[in-house]
Amino acid sequence: MSGSKSILWITFAFCVTTGSCKVFYRKTGDTVKMDCASGGPKNEVEWKMNNMLVLALDKTGRTRKAGLGNSDRVRLEGNSLKISALQRTDSGEFTCKADKHILYVASANANPSVVMHSGETKLSCDITGDFKATFKWITPNSTMYGTNKEVTVKATSEHSGSWKCTITNNKEDVITLEVIVKVVGPLITSEKVTVSEGDSAVLPCSLPNSSELSITGGSWARNPSGVHLVTLMRIESEVKWNKTKVNTDKVGFSDTKLSNFDVKLKKVKLDDAGVYVCSLMFDNGKSLSASLMLMVSKRVGPPPGTDSNRPTMQRMWFGLPLWIWILLLAILFVVVLFIVATIVFLCYKKKRMKRKMKNSKRQPKNFCMCDRTKKQPGKSPGKSPGKRGRPPPLPRHQYSSLNE
Ligand SMILES: *[C@@H]1O[C@H](CO)[C@@H](O)[C@H](O)[C@H]1NC(C)=O
Repeated sequence: MSGSKSILWITFAFCVTTGSCKVFYRKTGDTVKMDCASGGPKNEVEWKMNNMLVLALDKTGRTRKAGLGNSDRVRLEGNSLKISALQRTDSGEFTCKADKHILYVASANANPSVVMHSGETKLSCDITGDFKATFKWITPNSTMYGTNKEVTVKATSEHSGSWKCTITNNKEDVITLEVIVKVVGPLITSEKVTVSEGDSAVLPCSLPNSSELSITGGSWARNPSGVHLVTLMRIESEVKWNKTKVNTDKVGFSDTKLSNFDVKLKKVKLDDAGVYVCSLMFDNGKSLSASLMLMVSKRVGPPPGTDSNRPTMQRMWFGLPLWIWILLLAILFVVVLFIVATIVFLCYKKKRMKRKMKNSKRQPKNFCMCDRTKKQPGKSPGKSPGKRGRPPPLPRHQYSSLNE
C-alpha cells in the first residue's frame, strides 16, 4: 500500500474514531450529498470547503452562505450539505466538525460531438484532484480504444454511439463517464452502375441513418465537368430537388419529401458513361460526397424502351418493321393466287381443247349418217367416204354453243 491509497487509509482511520470520512467521485452536472455525522442533534453546523466557510447554520436557525461561486447551488438538508449541478471548481475537501469528505469531479466530452464520416473528433476525459488517475476509453462496440486522457478518433460508422471513459485511481475503477458521438454519413452509393444503351439507370445515394445535422443543400453532378444534373434546395425544414432548369426528360427524381437522394437517368446514351458524384451540404459547413461509375453497354438492335412507345405497325419483328412483314405476306398471297389461277386456267383450257378435239372427231360420223339417211335411205353403207358429199353446215344454235 502506497501513495494516495495509504493517505486515504490514514484519513479513514482518523475519521472512524471521530466522525465519518468519504471520498466522492462525481460527474459535472451531478448532485452530491455529504453527511455531517458528527454534527449532532443540535442544529448548529458549519461546512467548510478547503478550510473556507461555505455554509453555516447558527443557533437561531439562520443560514449563512459564503459568497462563493457555488452559493446558489449549495444548501443544507438537515446537517448534510447538498451541491447540485456540480462543476469542476466544486471539487475539494469538505469538512463539518469531525467529518471530512473529499469530492472529485470528473468530466468527459467529444469535440465535436457530431462528426462527419472520416472526419476527426477529440474525446477528452478528466478528473480534478492530484491523484494519479489513469483512463480507459471503450468504443461503442465495447472494444478498448486508448488509455490517454485525450484520444483522437477518425470517425467511421462504428464510432457512432456511446463511448465510455473509465477513470482509475491506483488500479481501482472509480467512475465511468459516457460520451455520445454521432457520425453523419457516409453517403452510400454503388461503385458501379451498368446499363444498356436506351435504358434508364438509377443512381443511388443515401445516408445510413437520419442526419444529426440539417442538410442545407446538395447535388448530383457529372465529373470531371462538374455539370449539375439536379440540385437540392431547402425550403423551411424540408429538403427537395429543385426542378427549375432541369431536363426532366433526362433526369427523374422524387418530387416529395426525400428519404434518399436517388435520381434516375433516362434513355441513357453511350456518351452518358462516366463518373457521377452525389454530394450533401450540412449546417456545420461540412459536406459529404460519394461517386459512382456509370457503364453503358452498346445495344444490339433497337432499344426496347422506345419500341413499346411506337405505333403497332412500326414495331420491330425479327429486325424488320411489322408493316414490311405484312406487305411481304400480301405479295406472297397475290403471287400464290396468281399461280393457282394460272394453273386452274390452263387445266380448263386443256380440258376444253380435249373436248373440242373429241367433238371434231365425232362430227363427221354424224354428218355421214345424216347424209345417208337423207339422200340414200334404202342403200347399204358400202360406199367410199371420198365420194361422200360435203356435210351441210351445222344448225345455227349448235354452232354457236361450240364456239362459246
Ligand atoms: C432553383 O434553381 C434555380 C435555377 O437553377 C435557382 O435560380 C433557384 O434559386 C433555385 N431555388 C431554390 C429555392 O433554391
